[in-house]
Amino acid sequence: MYILGLTTLGDAAATLIRDGQIIAAVEEERFSRIKHHSGFPYNAVQYCLEEAGITIGDVKHVALYWKPWVLRHKALQTLKTLSVSSDMFRARFDRGIAQVSHNYLGMLKTPALIRNRYGRSAFRFHYLDHHFCHASSAFFVSPFDSAAILTMDGTGEDTTTTLSRGTGTRIKLLKRIKLPHSLGQFYSAVTNFLGFDMFAGDEWKVMGLAAYGTPEYYDFFSKRVLCVNGDRDFSVNIRVLDHHLARKYKFSREIVEALGPPRRSDEEISERHQNIAASAQKVLEEAVLHLLNGLYQWTRDESLCLAGGVAFNSVMNGRIIQQSPFKRVFIQPAAGDAGCSLGAAYAVYHTLLKRPRSNAMEHAYYGPAFSSEKCATALREAGLAFDTLPDQEMLPQVARLIADGAIVGWFQGRMEFGPRALGNRSFLADPRRADMRALLNKKIKLREWFRPLAPSMLEEASTQVFGKAHADPFMVTVLHVTEEQRHRIPAVVHVDGTARPQTVSPKVNPRYWQLIREFERITTVPLLLNTSFNIQEPIVCTPHDAIASFQRVRFDALVLEDHLVVRR
Ligand SMILES: [Fe+2]
Repeated sequence: MYILGLTTLGDAAATLIRDGQIIAAVEEERFSRIKHHSGFPYNAVQYCLEEAGITIGDVKHVALYWKPWVLRHKALQTLKTLSVSSDMFRARFDRGIAQVSHNYLGMLKTPALIRNRYGRSAFRFHYLDHHFCHASSAFFVSPFDSAAILTMDGTGEDTTTTLSRGTGTRIKLLKRIKLPHSLGQFYSAVTNFLGFDMFAGDEWKVMGLAAYGTPEYYDFFSKRVLCVNGDRDFSVNIRVLDHHLARKYKFSREIVEALGPPRRSDEEISERHQNIAASAQKVLEEAVLHLLNGLYQWTRDESLCLAGGVAFNSVMNGRIIQQSPFKRVFIQPAAGDAGCSLGAAYAVYHTLLKRPRSNAMEHAYYGPAFSSEKCATALREAGLAFDTLPDQEMLPQVARLIADGAIVGWFQGRMEFGPRALGNRSFLADPRRADMRALLNKKIKLREWFRPLAPSMLEEASTQVFGKAHADPFMVTVLHVTEEQRHRIPAVVHVDGTARPQTVSPKVNPRYWQLIREFERITTVPLLLNTSFNIQEPIVCTPHDAIASFQRVRFDALVLEDHLVVRR
């Protein structure tokens, strides 16, 4: 039985499952080449059907990750802001009108749109609660029979946070926190205060910058902006920091008096900005730990699933693993809204159809793959000379290139679902070179100097590097690197002595594991620097995308499946 799950606003995506197994999952941005693509995922759906070798007529259920008619709470909140300021009301009113007319009314036409585009089909259509889809996206593909579940994002229909308990094929909602109290919107507002762009997903930058600062403004944030209440609750004071006004770079007098003026996007980053980032990061972490303590008291379950865009905060995740009462944590690699397509499909399969659980997600390789022949054709068309090599020659040769200082564009197999490159669409480089982070950030990725870069590590080496066993195939957790190891791999250790590793097992990605093993053989270092294969664009999807990057920016070598191009 085929079920199609859809995300159709920002981070649009489609997931197709068959009898509870993921057949395909992919973001629309990978095809459209527009970051965080918003709109119906035409190409992603087409790809899912082609990957399965079916037509829409074979799909029994289609599930959308949103209930577009849930508007009352948002409307009330908008009205309430009239008593605060006309600016605040106007910002919400304009956005609300735009959302209803452009997005929500369009969602109601989704079943007709699918039939018009892909042909006749008798599928049943389901509109599902957004945060329920987030919860489902983590729990139903986790290895846990039961778990506590925390979802956190900017907002769904009107909900920003849920606390739930998953048991077997059920998810029981325990608590729902609604607008305007939103951890995601708080962090986005700080992102704009610091001169970055919440629309571009720049929240990563705040997290990266936080490591350079001290949380000098923590008291202000925790007392005046993001306050914890009771044992399972928090509130955001929008009179002091309002996401909707921050979208327009408008900030209250109180926050400017407390933190100084907001940073302009072209302004040099100062110690004050770093301290603001560190303070916002700390107050977020404290609020989430507070929620988790409450959730643990409620459920007494030692397993935890996290989803929603805030679950991408890997520094926070590191603290959760170390300091929350939970012993086991699962975070789905597409924890943001793209992953809701997967959550929607599984919600239908388990909670509506009552089918038993069977699929724990062990990898994220559910996107398009391209054959050796297709890669060779693309290289020939681009006029690039290449060698075609068996792995026993290719892998030692690539490992040697990296050890000699080359930056390699590495392209193999099915592309990753979620924002992390996990060794199938990655730039790879030598983690031992202290200058490699600046080189990659400035010359290859064309982005800020302070963005941390992460390692892909042999799974069995985690104790050596981090002093304890750790498995994270999805690169979603930051840990402290042991003192002895930090100086050996400076390019992947952040300023605060941490790293965000992907652990690679020979079972899940044997060719990538073997490449790292070859690098270890040469250098004794069991990891590679891995950053996503993209330059100010979505991660490369096709051989043509990869070749276009190679022609645009001077990295040293390109591997497309079994073909190697070395820049002379
Ligand atoms: Fe969301």
